[in-house]
Amino acid sequence: MPGYEVLGSEELEEVKDVFNSGGVLFRHGFDEKRKGCYKVKAFESEFAKFLKCDYTLAVTSGTAALRVALAALDIGKGDEVITQAFTFVATVEAIIEAQATPVCVNIDNSLNINPKEIEASITNRTKAVIVVHMLGVPSKLKEVKEICRKYNLALIEDTAWGCGGKFDNKALGTYGDIGTFSFDFAKTMTTGEGGMIAFKDKVTYEKACAWHDHGHENNPNLPRWKDSRSGSGFNFRMMELQAAVGLAQLRKLPMIVSAQRKNSDLIWSYLEELDCIERREEPIGCMPTADALIFMVETEAIALKIREKLLSRRISTKILPEAITWHFAGTWDHMPELVNRHDNKLKESLRKSEIILTRSVSIPIGVELDDKLPEAVHAAIIEGIE
Ligand SMILES: Cc1ncc(COP(=O)(O)O)c(C=O)c1O
Repeated sequence: MPGYEVLGSEELEEVKDVFNSGGVLFRHGFDEKRKGCYKVKAFESEFAKFLKCDYTLAVTSGTAALRVALAALDIGKGDEVITQAFTFVATVEAIIEAQATPVCVNIDNSLNINPKEIEASITNRTKAVIVVHMLGVPSKLKEVKEICRKYNLALIEDTAWGCGGKFDNKALGTYGDIGTFSFDFAKTMTTGEGGMIAFKDKVTYEKACAWHDHGHENNPNLPRWKDSRSGSGFNFRMMELQAAVGLAQLRKLPMIVSAQRKNSDLIWSYLEELDCIERREEPIGCMPTADALIFMVETEAIALKIREKLLSRRISTKILPEAITWHFAGTWDHMPELVNRHDNKLKESLRKSEIILTRSVSIPIGVELDDKLPEAVHAAIIEGIE
């Protein structure tokens, strides 16, 4: 659940600090006026420490983070990028915006990419795989990385839903070559709108820095108006107020994730004996953020019935089973690039994913937990099954 639950005086103090230090809202320059206050730079550096990663770049959104990542890898026209059938439209939109061709692969019971289905989608035009740690559960990174290594493909982790989670004791977003993060208002930590990119490699990081800033190389020996450039780019710069909020939210992130995990475990303890539900698979060695509690039932009709029973108790569901349209590639026939690549059989090619998603029920987990929630979820499931 979103960091908005814990937005408070700490975020406000950080924002005030910007105004008390000259009110410079732009990340670059105005050195005298800003009295040493550089929130975007500080946010990047604190986020890098949190991830234990050397290079991070703040951007305007998670969608921008994906777009900049593709630009930094020189992915464009004629290239193909593989991602998963269950994600938000943004992942595929970024590929299309880069003029590359998106290919979606089925998910498995982890609700993330099925590594066994990736190789069949690789062609000599494939340049990268974007895995998505959907709704807080890490992807099967080990298997996917092995495939990427075998075929010399870049591995991008769309960590929009995985911020604060781990795989093999490594922060999500740092296992592959590039990790992208979203801080929109629905995410585990939020800056309203905003994103971050984590890089393994300095050269790719430097390319991204320039590309997200109109090609500016931010040469320390030149004034900005005379700055050096090697190529054009775009503007996806984060602004100071977003980073100010981000700094306060980042300090709360471990607490948010730990509270969510505790609350999720508590709800599960009430559901354990129910053999009519199957728990979402979690890869071995991972630490999910427990953003949502997800289980699968036998049919779509039962999943919808359980949702109805949850709603009647004022408990909402999160994306599944009702709102898969924005999150299931099989329904994206408004994207001709994707439809064509799937031989005009988009829905049929992703049928396995549809079956899993429509039978899944997702309950949002927050930092706060109503004492009555675990029992209410249990009762709604029993009634829904009947
Ligand atoms: C998986 C995934 N990737 C990327 C994004 C895009 O993030 P943003 O809303 O910050 O652009 C989202 C947003 O929900 C998402 O769910």
